[in-house]
This record gives sequence, structure tokens and C-alpha cells, in this order.
Amino acid sequence: MRESGCLNYNEDKDLASHCFGPASGPGFMIIRKTAVELEKMRASGLLVWKVLDELARMVAEGVTTLDLENAAGRMMRDAGARPAFKNYFVQAVGSRYPFVLCTSVNDEIIHGLPSARRELRDGDIVSIDTGVELNGYFGDSAVTVPIGKVSPEVDRLLQVTQEALELAIDQVRAGNRLFDVCGAVERHVSGNGFGIVREYVGHGIGTQLHEEPQIPNYIDRRNENPRLKEGMVLAIEPMVNAGKCESKLAPDRWTALTGDGSYSAHFEHCVAVTANGPWVLTRP
Ligand code: MF3
Ligand code: CO
Repeated sequence: MRESGCLNYNEDKDLASHCFGPASGPGFMIIRKTAVELEKMRASGLLVWKVLDELARMVAEGVTTLDLENAAGRMMRDAGARPAFKNYFVQAVGSRYPFVLCTSVNDEIIHGLPSARRELRDGDIVSIDTGVELNGYFGDSAVTVPIGKVSPEVDRLLQVTQEALELAIDQVRAGNRLFDVCGAVERHVSGNGFGIVREYVGHGIGTQLHEEPQIPNYIDRRNENPRLKEGMVLAIEPMVNAGKCESKLAPDRWTALTGDGSYSAHFEHCVAVTANGPWVLTRP
């Protein structure tokens, strides 16, 4: 199964209808954006950055993940933006996502539900993933933030995941191919002995939160390997487990957990292909 943050079309064709991300079959279409559209996506991207930056500063012992949710909702409202995740219909679950944020703590990979009962504690990590729609265009980004002092291994997990994203961003160039992006993440993560989550992938983004193509964090040779062209925008989002790559669904049916209980990190940026190289829309 593969979701954005989309079910794996190839791994199980019967499950393809459960996919809530982009389809990835032969002849799929990657929508290219004009310069004017990219400026709109930039505005969305910067707002997402501002929200995540503020939330990262708020993170501390005793803060709950619902506190983060509430702060994010306020900031988006004040900016006149629509929270992209809230009420987003997810076919795999059969319902609408009820929050503005995904807050995934420790062994939660993605889609953790904000809760007043989830108080952050020293040694925890929290992945905060959010998106907005502003003037018809989407932005989507995620960061993983440590609380207090985390173990050296978890520290390395955060660093390697972030580095993998940066290496992938550097491949977002006209003339390169999608596998250059996927392979950059895979090489760095696997080379460091961590587990790449298979079931969830990155995605194109624009006037929809999830557009084609799917962007796995590894080279999946069953997929197409399109050439990158100016105006394409990729939401690249490595999800990396300190232990094995397997994931499982929590009883709440939303939260993805690591199969082995190991901690998991998630970083995400939206990156446009431009004549001047990669343009990371979701940071200043
Ligand atoms: N984590 C996903 C992404 O970054 C979005 C989750 S959609 C939700 O693409 F609404 F279910 F949260
Ligand atoms: Co995303």
C-alpha cells in the first residue's frame, strides 16, 4: 500500500482504487506551471514555511500536538488561506482527514492525529506535516523536530533524512529524470543503514494537493522515469525509519506506525524546476 504521504499503484493493482494520490500509469501527465502560477505557488509555499517555522519554535516539553494544531489553524485563517489537509478525502480510509496538521510522534511515520492527550516529552521527536491552499494553489511541507535531548541515533536519523531531501532537491533540474530524484534519497538513506518507507510517496503539486507523478523515496523500476521539465513542481518527502522499512496502520486507521517500533523522520519541500535550477518554494 502506498499513499501520498498514495497506495502503490504497482504493488497491488486491486488496491489502486484506494489511492488518494496521483495515478502513475503509462502516459500519465505531469502538469507544468507558468511563471505566474509558480509565483502563486511561491506564496502558498512561504505561508506553509511560516506556519511550520512558528510551530517548530513552539515545540517544547508539555506542549500538546493539539496546541500545535490550534496555532496552525489560527495562522492559516489570519493569512486568508484554506488548510489543505482538513476535510481532505482519503479513499484508503474512506473518510475525510479531520485536522489541519499531521503530527506524528516517535514511531508514528505520518498522518498522526493531533490530540490534547499527546503531550510532548523530552527525547521525543514530532513530525509536523501541513499544507495550504491560497489563491487556488497548494503548498505542502513537513519537518521533524526533536524535543529536548534525543538519542545519538535519532539525531543521526533526523540529519540523514534532511540531507537526503537536500540531495534530492539538487536533482530537480530540467533534463534530469525522476529517478535521479528518487535515487538520491535512496542512496543516502540506504547508505546510512536506515529504512525507507515504501508505502507512502511524494507527489506532484499545483492546483491539487496531489498531482502526478508519484515520487517514491527509492527507484521503483516498474514506474515511468519521466524527464523533468521547466514548470514541474515536485513535493519530495522522504519518510525514513531508524529501523526496518515496514509500516503498519494504527487502530485509529489514520496513523502509519513503524512495524518495529523504531522512530521515524519526515521532511518535505515543494520544489519547482526552473531555468536556474531547483526552486524550493516552501522556504525563504
Ligand atoms: N502527508 C501527505 C502529504 O504530504 C498529506 C496528507 S493528506 C491528509 O502529501 F489530509 F490525509 F492529511
Ligand atoms: Co506531501
